[in-house]
Amino acid sequence: MLVALTGTPGAGKTTVADILSARGYRVESVNELAERFGTVSEEDDSKIVDVEGLAEKLKLPEDEVIILEGHLSHLLNPDVVVVLRCNPILLKERLKSKGWSEEKVLENVEAEIVDTILIEAMEECGDVYEIDTTGLSPEKVADAVEEILTGERDKYKPGRIDWISEVKDRIEELMRRE
Ligand SMILES: Nc1ncnc2c1ncn2[C@@H]1O[C@H](COP(=O)(O)OP(=O)(O)OP(=O)(O)O)[C@@H](O)[C@H]1O
Ligand SMILES: [Mg+2]
Repeated sequence: MLVALTGTPGAGKTTVADILSARGYRVESVNELAERFGTVSEEDDSKIVDVEGLAEKLKLPEDEVIILEGHLSHLLNPDVVVVLRCNPILLKERLKSKGWSEEKVLENVEAEIVDTILIEAMEECGDVYEIDTTGLSPEKVADAVEEILTGERDKYKPGRIDWISEVKDRIEELMRRE
């Protein structure tokens, strides 16, 4: 069973994948696989993964749970997708501390607000779950992923997270202070 662990950059995929790996799960990173299979190119200092090329070359055993982590993992024909979500205001701070440009930060924060990865995942796979990681420690997020893997799935069905309303509330609060 191939489980894609995806989400907007900064949502915590690699951190949680490392914990799951330490707990004994087999974890693969999309970026590392792309390097291994030679399906990556470089453009303006950033690496572009050829997702279709990688999907063609990728042959993973089906009788084993494999967690595939990366923001493109939901595009690699997974059986189950887990999308890590993060409040956009917190995500903005995380991405800023990576030293990213304002433009790149904003692009990714906007993608999180409008559910870009969740929507893409739901177009690709019929079994998609989302975890609101805001305020959860990485260990707790890893626990939630394990809950999904062991069948406690209902509370992670998509549709409960609504960043647009939260951002709207925040704007209203700021306006009241003016
Ligand atoms: N649940 C969490 N609580 C607090 N901080 C977290 C949590 N998860 C991740 N972080 C922190 O957020 C930052 C980004 O995490 P991480 O690198 O795992 O994200 P990612 O989704 O793999 O991003 P990318 O797509 O860019 O690889 C790191 O500094 C990490 O320590
Ligand atoms: Mg990562």
